[in-house]
Amino acid sequence: MTTKLLVANLSDIDVKGSRRIKVKELEIAMFRLTDGSVLAVENSCPHKGGLLSEGMVCGSTVHCPLHDWKIDLKSGNAQEPDDGCIKTFETEIDHKSGSIYIKI
Ligand code: FES
Repeated sequence: MTTKLLVANLSDIDVKGSRRIKVKELEIAMFRLTDGSVLAVENSCPHKGGLLSEGMVCGSTVHCPLHDWKIDLKSGNAQEPDDGCIKTFETEIDHKSGSIYIKI
């Protein structure tokens, strides 16, 4: 069963910025992109667990701060030649209130 949780407000995250949230034992990184969307992924690089929330975002890709693997925030896949995948989470924004929901 999918649960929809209110996790933040748009005003909490700068454009091109990120925010870490914890839902039970899951740590999730949320990124606000320049196109206005908010994407959420597991906050752990598939290489050696670097905190992706501290990485630099370029388009819809985050660069891991540890060894610069590039992770696609939409698919969760590492960009070739690297290989790996992280979990992604569906998000929903209420543009009236700015509320950001995540589906888990
Ligand atoms: S831990 Fe992310 S690139 Fe190595």
